[in-house]
Amino acid sequence: MLKREIKLTEDGSHTIFIPELNEHYHSTHGAIQEAIHIYINAGLKFVDKNPIHILEIGFGTGLNTYLSLVEAENTNRSIVYHSLERYPVEEEELKVLNYPDLIEFEKRDLFKKLHKIEWNKTCEISNNFSLKKISGDLKEIEFEDKYDLIFFDAFAPDIQPELWTKTIFKKLYNCADTNAILMTYCSKGIVKRALRASGFDVKRLAGPPGKHHILRATKIDDFDFSYQN
Ligand SMILES: C[S@@+](CC[C@H](N)C(=O)[O-])C[C@H]1O[C@@H](n2cnc3c(N)ncnc32)[C@H](O)[C@@H]1O
Repeated sequence: MLKREIKLTEDGSHTIFIPELNEHYHSTHGAIQEAIHIYINAGLKFVDKNPIHILEIGFGTGLNTYLSLVEAENTNRSIVYHSLERYPVEEEELKVLNYPDLIEFEKRDLFKKLHKIEWNKTCEISNNFSLKKISGDLKEIEFEDKYDLIFFDAFAPDIQPELWTKTIFKKLYNCADTNAILMTYCSKGIVKRALRASGFDVKRLAGPPGKHHILRATKIDDFDFSYQN
């Protein structure tokens, strides 16, 4: 198993660093700041559906999950959240993460709860938020449900090129509901091209501090795949 280290980012929130891959789980300019900018403000708040079905690729520290839960509670919005993870973080490592101390929310014990629940089982974390953590590999999994919003938060394309491909994005297209959107932090050309070839309309948005752009990709429901090779 790869060694993991907890690091502080510039907004005071933690992230995990994997020395062997030289990869952080979040932006070193601010983990919470980045997650709110991309997944909550440009993603969750942008999709006008209630209840909303979310799929996250890469549960990791649970930061995006917790922020979505806080948003559900604060706005009384109902969220059904599925999060896929191939390499779960150990409980001991998760205990020290400072997200509940930094994110204003009364029911901070819910951060522990979302980590403690069993994998592959739907659990009610709060009145508005149900969570299923799916243990599996994005390359192999077949999704059974449909989603309105996808948080694509895998490691970067230079670390995991096999996850940023047309094959993978086509799989996500197939489990995306009508007008669904996919949010990701990576705006590289290869990512945009792979998303477009998989039936998404891709828009570049301003990124959080330290990142020029992020992507919002919208499913084109009647996309004509016959022109693809
Ligand atoms: C950039 S981190 C983001 C984690 C998370 N969203 C967070 O806020 O902490 C990428 C995550 O994707 C997971 N991952 C890597 N390869 C995967 C795969 N093939 N299938 C599912 N998850 C994978 C990693 O273990 C890691 O937790």
